[in-house]
Amino acid sequence: MATTDAEQIFKEFREHSAAEFFKKNRQMLGYSGAGRSLVTIVHEWVTNSLDASEEGGILPDIDVSISKAENNRYIIKVSDNGPGIPKNFVGKALATIFAGTKFHRYMQQRGQQGIGAAGCLLFSQITTGKPIFVKSSIGKGRAYSCHIALSTANNKPIITDMADIDDKSQGLSVEGEFADIRYEMGEHSAYEYIRRTALSNPHTQIKLTDPSGQEFLFVRSVKKLPARPPPAKPHPAGLSTNDLLDFAHASQSRKISSFLVDTFARTTSNKISEIREADPSIDMDEDPKKLTWEQAEKLVNAFKKVKWIAPDAGYVVPIGEEQIRIAVKNILSPEHMSVVERRPRIFRGGVPFIVEAAVAYGGGSGKKEEEGYSGNILRFGNRVPLLFDSGSCAITKAANGIEWRRYGIDMETQPVSVFVNVSSVYLPYSGVGKEAIAQEDEIVEEIKLAVMEAARGVQRYVRGKQAANFNAGRYKAISRYVKQLSKDIGDLTGADTGRVEKKLNDIVKKHFPKAKEGEDEEEPAVGSEVDVEEEA
Ligand SMILES: Nc1ncnc2c1ncn2[C@@H]1O[C@H](COP(=O)(O)OP(=O)(O)OP(=O)(O)O)[C@@H](O)[C@H]1O
Ligand SMILES: [Mg+2]
Repeated sequence: MATTDAEQIFKEFREHSAAEFFKKNRQMLGYSGAGRSLVTIVHEWVTNSLDASEEGGILPDIDVSISKAENNRYIIKVSDNGPGIPKNFVGKALATIFAGTKFHRYMQQRGQQGIGAAGCLLFSQITTGKPIFVKSSIGKGRAYSCHIALSTANNKPIITDMADIDDKSQGLSVEGEFADIRYEMGEHSAYEYIRRTALSNPHTQIKLTDPSGQEFLFVRSVKKLPARPPPAKPHPAGLSTNDLLDFAHASQSRKISSFLVDTFARTTSNKISEIREADPSIDMDEDPKKLTWEQAEKLVNAFKKVKWIAPDAGYVVPIGEEQIRIAVKNILSPEHMSVVERRPRIFRGGVPFIVEAAVAYGGGSGKKEEEGYSGNILRFGNRVPLLFDSGSCAITKAANGIEWRRYGIDMETQPVSVFVNVSSVYLPYSGVGKEAIAQEDEIVEEIKLAVMEAARGVQRYVRGKQAANFNAGRYKAISRYVKQLSKDIGDLTGADTGRVEKKLNDIVKKHFPKAKEGEDEEEPAVGSEVDVEEEA
């Protein structure tokens, strides 16, 4: 066989940009399958609008419009009332992969990576060749519009038609044309995504216009913005040598001691003394910029010997029990629900998180099947609905590990919705598409405890309901025999059939005092989303 030398092989050596990588691997961003791809676009733009409005201190008002274009294409437009994007940042923000205002901040937000918006733009570009149309008003009458494309070779924005416009509204509006996507209904649809967004964000008003022109308005049910999570400092427990080195080399402090106090949570001068005691060979007066791997390793080992106070949970902002109650009532109108907000916990040694869970029974809960109902699990990470990749998600793993029958719940046949939201400064997603929370042991265990606690809260009601259903079934079955039996007795004894039937019915009713004649199972109430008629 002919050999090829290194020089020859390395003629093929190339460097690739992040944009080129995701152009080739779009499925990693959630662009696989026409139905899912459409939801991914809505998800990326809506989460950005929510993050931006909240950061701007504005109650979010979001409009999502999906319409059909020629050649099986769709036009998707998302507008918000947030702070908008300054003109000089719009290209980088929306058309550069790995750029944004969130990745470098240790702060609870929906966006984490600086990929979502550029990913949408890239998907439009590779399926239709068209740029995204952007309009933004950033207050004081300053507004502009432009088209933005992305140069994949160097991951840089290409802005055209930039123009100042007269627009008194506030916010950002993004509009793109897409192929290889499809508007579908069902559990994995844009409608369901938006319905669940309304469920986990009761402070948000969100409207969907579907391709047929029908409008669905999910009204704001809470008129208060969620508390703004402050930027957190990383906690020393659980820190890796590599992370510590990166922080040290970027530090402005002159000494390791002050670098540690300034950079990390719960690191006081007392703790510095404890670290010194744990390993006296560490020189705390050294320049952190000169920290070596060996010194960093010593520090990390010393951190493990010190008793740390857990991270401040104030950095994690859950939805809140009361707000979940209002939202679930508003959207699912259940017959009964139980909501649990657990105390903060930590994973990977130092990252705080909070789990909230609700179990709702009846009304619009669960999934309507051809015959009857089944239960469903509504997964959320930092209030963002997670619709796909359920198999690899910590929430699914926890819910599947629960013995539902112990709580009188049958997920196969009952109208039950299990709602779980995990909030954290840093959520460990299992992929860049951010559709599943990684199965970290501490997180799975905590979700399980939260859901079991919520399930206990509906247990009595569900058991009572089961008993009532059982009795209603028996009453119905026995009543069916009464008619035939009365006729047979009449034939045999010559007694008046009508009188026999009445007497028998009285006896049966005495045994089932709560059952009513002709009682059928109640239809569930439709959620409280308001259907808005299109204007003529
Ligand atoms: N609707 C918006 N209003 C204001 N700023 C926005 C809006 N959408 C995006 N941005 C800005 O653009 C940046 C990039 O958005 P992008 O979705 O790519 O990343 P991200 O939200 O930071 O993280 P992720 O990849 O996890 O979504 C954001 O960090 C934000 O600064
Ligand atoms: Mg984003």
